[in-house]
This record gives sequence, structure tokens and C-alpha cells, in this order.
Amino acid sequence: MPGTIGADNRTDTSSFEMPFPRHMHLDSAKANMTETSPPVIALEIEGPVALVGLNNPPVNAASQALRAGLVKAMDQLADNDAVEVIAIYGMGRTFIAGADIREFGKPPQAPSLPDVCNRIEAMQKPVLSVLHGNALGGGLEVALATHARVAIDGLTVGFPEVTLGILPGAGGTQRAPRLTGMKTALDLITTGKRIGAKEALTHGLVDKVVAGDPRDVALESAQAVLSGELPTRRTGTLTVDNDTAALKDAAETLRKKQPLLFSPHKCVEAVAASVKPLEEGLAEERRLFLECMESPQRAGLINAFFAERAVAKIPEAGARPRTVNAVGVIGGGTMGSGIATACLLSGLTVTLAEQNTEAAERGRTTIETNLDGAVKRGKLTSGQRAEILSNHLSTTTDYQDFAEADLVIEAVFEDMNVKRQVFRQLDDICKEGAVLATNTSYLDVNEIAAETRRPEDVVGLHFFSPAHVMKLLEVVVADKTAADVVATGFALGKRLKKIAVRAGVCDGFIGNRILSTYKKTAEYLMMDGASPQEIDTALTNYGFAMGPFMVADLAGLDIAWASRKRLAATRAPEERYIPIADRICEQGWFGRKAGRGYYVYGADGPSPNPEALAIIADERTKAGIAPRVFSEDDITSVIMTAIIMEAATVLEDGIALRPIDIDAVYLFGYGFPRFRGGPMHTADAIGAAELVRRIENYAKADSYFWKVPQSLAEMARDGSTFADRSKEA
Ligand code: 3HC
Ligand code: NAI
Repeated sequence: MPGTIGADNRTDTSSFEMPFPRHMHLDSAKANMTETSPPVIALEIEGPVALVGLNNPPVNAASQALRAGLVKAMDQLADNDAVEVIAIYGMGRTFIAGADIREFGKPPQAPSLPDVCNRIEAMQKPVLSVLHGNALGGGLEVALATHARVAIDGLTVGFPEVTLGILPGAGGTQRAPRLTGMKTALDLITTGKRIGAKEALTHGLVDKVVAGDPRDVALESAQAVLSGELPTRRTGTLTVDNDTAALKDAAETLRKKQPLLFSPHKCVEAVAASVKPLEEGLAEERRLFLECMESPQRAGLINAFFAERAVAKIPEAGARPRTVNAVGVIGGGTMGSGIATACLLSGLTVTLAEQNTEAAERGRTTIETNLDGAVKRGKLTSGQRAEILSNHLSTTTDYQDFAEADLVIEAVFEDMNVKRQVFRQLDDICKEGAVLATNTSYLDVNEIAAETRRPEDVVGLHFFSPAHVMKLLEVVVADKTAADVVATGFALGKRLKKIAVRAGVCDGFIGNRILSTYKKTAEYLMMDGASPQEIDTALTNYGFAMGPFMVADLAGLDIAWASRKRLAATRAPEERYIPIADRICEQGWFGRKAGRGYYVYGADGPSPNPEALAIIADERTKAGIAPRVFSEDDITSVIMTAIIMEAATVLEDGIALRPIDIDAVYLFGYGFPRFRGGPMHTADAIGAAELVRRIENYAKADSYFWKVPQSLAEMARDGSTFADRSKEA
């Protein structure tokens, strides 16, 4: 008599005959793949134990083939009297990392993952799972449907669905609370946080944590089930205590913190249903899951997931990065000290150069403060902080100390003459093969490279402020930059845990070039009738962390003022010029640091600056503009259309490789709302034809600024999308 769940599983295995070949690959799994693909399920029979190996590299995503293979395996093993216990484990680097995200948005293919989980849980024979690497989302749900779970050290589990705009849709919202209680399940499911094996054990998500090879552990654990040492039970038969306080708390927190997001609130509703009998709860979960699947936020968040990974696909991917251990940083101001901190946190050795010892000391102090923050956030121990500061950081005023550096990153003033001089000196001092990088925001990297006898070693590494926090790194490739130098920039990005995006040379590269258009458009709206506060509110309600005028006040209005004065002589006479910011600066109101700018910064926080509003009204009168009323939709439509228009020309000019690279830049460097997927994803959601219509309409008032990009016109004609172009590139 084969083992049954929750019963004595001991059995006599002495007369067992193997019914299948030792390794048997399932036909159903094969049927869904090309001739040459390896099978996704490998079955082995060892005495009374059936081992079900999952083999869908790289992450064992629960694709249709894997799902069908699992069901087929359960059906076959249920009918095989010789098999008494079944162990599922992941071959390769992980257990199942979740549903196959690439299938989302396409017509569903049977069997669904909930059906697979239900089939596993309903098995009469005990089924256990051995988890290593990652058991995420649907992967964890498969595990929860098995009758016992053994984790291997180093395992990560979690429900990342909420970060993709959905909720665990294969029983996770019903089975997790049955094991952990509602409070913990709510925490995991609404945040998407990932936890380790030990914490999973504490919460009851796994039954045991061991060390070893997954297949060996699967075999040993199956024997433990047979001997009764490892108990089994169906998660679905457990009951949940209705924790109304935890539900209320979670709902209120989300309403406050994430009012714009859709799926976190649905997660709470789904977990609330876990008090019902399993079948009813699952039906409720399914209903809510499908609502999330239909939401545009799901498509946006999944675009963000793929954007983060797509940007690594660059023409130079085959080149071997140069070795980087010792880094030189020039300039210990806002950026230099942040870049140095990021390098130190990643185990690199840093020499920081400044103009004089006082400035160098200031740089060191900023780095110390940054490291203090890392200690506070638990990213570093105080011992590690002390070790970094005494053994990995040195400061200097002499560039000769860069003679042995593998990479030098310049972050001095944004002034071409200063940068040229720095690169001339680096060319004389640095060793052969050293990478010479500039952190310039706007300047021409070709011109900087031309200052050296080795332009192939020069690249732009454009970090974002604060550089030890912000995820984005633009790798700016100049005309002569060598492929292995580009690859080194990307390898550095990976080491610093940043998202590196390849950009070409132009004024502002990808991000700042589009930002200039964004800021101009906001000023045009202000001149035409919207107040700074109305514009900022529209954009924060759209999902940006801050609106453009609040950001301008934060950055300091004086910096942009100085740059406007510098560029005044070269400004096109046809270009619309808004003098409001100049007049605000003339009063000395440089923004937050001066206590006043577009806003007044009092003890109760910012409020609109009435005197700035008076200046705005005065300038409108002078220009003969009768202020118009703009709704929030009007404001976001104008601004998004301008951003997309500029982004399309950035693509046409070859500055970004693909539309999805622009999405990544805006998502990870400019606070673009992740749930909107990025500007190009937003363009596809609006539609090229509508965008062209809008631009033509706006051009009636300002044909110098508003011009239909050729690519957008083509897309409006042939119905194609930026997503199509990302796939083709
Ligand atoms: N579906 C499809 N492809 C996936 C995938 C998934 N769930 N997870 C990863 N991939 C792909 C990546 O796109 C990447 O493809 P590429 O090489 O073509 O760019 C490749 O697998 C390797 O991924 P990473 O580069 O991210 O590899 P890492 O080793 O750095 O990370 C990981 C591995 C931790 C598993 C990470 O990939 C990850 O977090 N994946 C997403 C996990 C997730 O969100 N799961 C939930 C899915 S939703 C769900 O399960 C719904 C269910 O409730 C019904
Ligand atoms: P900053 O003014 O805070 O710092 C510049 C530092 O460089 C100063 O401490 C100065 O003493 C030092 N310096 C000047 N000339 C030097 C020289 N010849 N040798 C050594 N040190 C020298 O400026 P910030 O904001 O750090 O900007 C630096 C660079 O980074 C600029 O090119 C800027 O455009 C760029 N950048 C700035 C960002 C920001 O948000 N602040 C974002 C991304 C890039």
C-alpha cells in the first residue's frame, strides 16, 4: 500500500521493480518544444521514490511545457503502484522562479498554474518539494501545494507578483496564510519582499532547512517521508484565523503609501478570502488575479522588469571587460564623493583627488557620512566601515597617484576647459590600458577624448545623484571608444549593482536631453496659465515622486540660471523663451537652500510663493497672454507628448539603442512612475496616431518646438509600436 498524506508512510520496498527506464522524459513536455530543445521534466525512479527534475533553464519558469510536464508526471505516477513518494526538485541553478512572465498578455494555455497546484495537492501519494536557489511567485505556490517542503541553504523565497502588478494567482494568497497566519502573509504578498531559508522556516513556509545537492536531498527527503521522519500534510486542509486587525492595518497602510497602485489593494482582498474554504478562496483569488492581469499597470510593470534586463544586450557584449580593482575619482563634490562611496561599497579601492587638502577632506567627510548611512541601513557593519576607510580610501591633491589606477572617473566642474585640462594630465600619467571616464552631464565626450592620445580608452560614465543610491548609469560611447572599454563600463555597472544603459554622444545624452524638453514644456505651461503647484500636483498624481518646479527648487535655481546666461548668445531666435525663472533668481530666491523659489519653505513645509506667482502674472501680461485653465489631464498630456517627441528623436539620432533603453533611463534615473512602464511604453499605450494628432495641434501655436518626429509619423501610418522596434533592434 503506497504512502498516504498524513498517514504512516512506511512500506516494504524489497520486491520493487522499476516500471520506467531510470531517466524518462515526458512526451507531453516534449510535444511543446522544438526538436532540439531538451525535455523540461526528467523523471527518475529509485525504488519506491519518484524524482521529478525540473529542467527549464535559466530559471525554471513555469512555462506551458513545464506545467504540462508536471501534470503528466503526476498522472503517470499516480497510476504507478510501485511509486510511493514523489519528490520535485529543480535541476540547474534554481527551483521555479515563478510563472513564465513572457506568457503574460498572451492567450492563456492549459494547464493553468492553479490547476497544476491543485493537481499536486490532490495527489493521494505524498509529494514533497526540495527548494534551492529561488522559489518565487508561482514557484513558491507549487511548493506550497506539495505536502512537505525542504529548503536548501541559500534559498530565497517570496511573492514578487505585486511588483509586476498582479497577485499570487496559483493559490499563494490562500495557502500562505494557512501556514504563516494572515499578518505575515500580508506582509510578504503586499510588499513582494524576498526572504531567506531560515526566515521561511520561522514563518512555517518550509518544514526543514538542510545543505546539499538538490537531487540528493530529494532522494533523502523522500526516504524520510517513507520512514515517517518527515511528516506530510495538505496545506489546503489547514484553517486560517481571521486577523481583522492585520487586514485593516495593511489596507490602511497601502491606501496611504501606494494610493496610485492597483494590485497591492487586491492582494489584501485576496488574503482576506483565505478564511473561506479553499475552493471558494481560490475562486476569489482567481477573480482578483484576472482583474490585475487586465490592468494597464501590469503591462507597465512587466515592461519595467524586462527593461532592466534588456539594456545589457549591447553590441559590445562579446568584448572582455578590462580588470578594475583600483579606481581614481577626481573631484570630491556632490558626484565625486557619491561615486567614490558606490565604488567602496562594492569592494573597490579608491583614490580621491581634489584641488586642495581642505576640499579633499570635505570629500572624505561626505564619504564617511554616506558610509554611516549604509551602516544604519544594515548594508555594512561598523567594522567594515572602519576597514574601508583605513585600507581602501585615500585622498590626494596629486594626479601622479593615479599612475596605477585601472579606471579614473572625472567629476570636476561642468566646464569644458577644466575637463580638457584634467584629461591632458591623465593621458600623461595613467598606465597603458587604464580606462579614462568622464561623469559630465551634457558636454561632448568626443571633444574630451580628443584631448588625449588614447581616445579609445575614454568613455562617459554618467552617474546620477546621489551616486551611491541611484540605480542608473549611462555608459556614453564616443566615436572612438573601444568595445572592451564599453564592456568595462557595463561590468562596473553590474559590480556597483546599477542598471547600465548604452548612450551615444549628444547634448545631455539620453536622459538629460529629454529632461531639457520636459522642463521647457513645464515652463510653457506655466506661462500659458498653469501655476507651478498645479503642474507639480498633476505630475505627482500621475506618479512622479516630485513635479518639475519642486525639483528645480531642490536642485537650486542658480545653476540653471548660470547655464542660461552662458547659452544666451547661441539660443535660436525662433525659440520661445520664458523669463520667469530669471526674474525669480534676480530676487536671490534660489530655491530650497534660500528658503524661497517657486515655493516658500517654512516650518510647515513648502507652500506656493505668492511673490513668484506675482512675477508669473506680470510676465504673462507683458507677453499679452490671457491665462488658460489647464486640467490635470491637459498638463500630463502636454508634458508626456513632449517627452515622447524628444525621446523619438533621441532614437532617430541613434543616441539610444532601443525604445526600451529610454524606458530604463527614465524609470531608473528620473523617477518615472514604474507602473507606467516608461515613456516609450506610455507612447504605445497612447498610440502613435493620437500623439501625432496632439503634436500637430500644439504646433499651431508653436511650430518651432512642436514637430512630428519621422518615426512617430511612420508608426501612425503602419500601426507599429515602439515595443515592435525594441524587439527588432
Ligand atoms: N519568466 C520568464 N523569464 C524570466 C523569469 C520569469 N519568471 N524570471 C527570469 N526570467 C528571465 C530573465 O528575463 C532573463 O532573461 P534574459 O537572459 O533573456 O534577459 C533570464 O531569465 C535570467 O534572469 P536574470 O537576469 O534576472 O537572472 P538572475 O540570476 O539575476 O535572477 C531571479 C534570477 C532572481 C529568478 C530573477 O530573474 C527574478 O527575480 N525573476 C522574476 C521572479 C518573479 O517575479 N516571479 C514571479 C512571476 S509572476 C508569477 O509567478 C505569477 C503566479 O503567481 C501565477
Ligand atoms: P560639485 O561642484 O559638487 O563638485 C565638483 C568638485 O570638483 C569640487 O569639489 C571641486 O573642488 C572639484 N574640482 C574642480 N576642479 C578640479 C580639479 N581640476 N581637480 C580636482 N578637483 C577639482 O559638482 P558636482 O555636482 O559633483 O558635478 C561634478 C560633475 O558631475 C559635473 O560634470 C556635473 O555636470 C556632473 N554631474 C552632476 C550631477 C548632479 O546631480 N550634481 C549628476 C550627474 C553628473
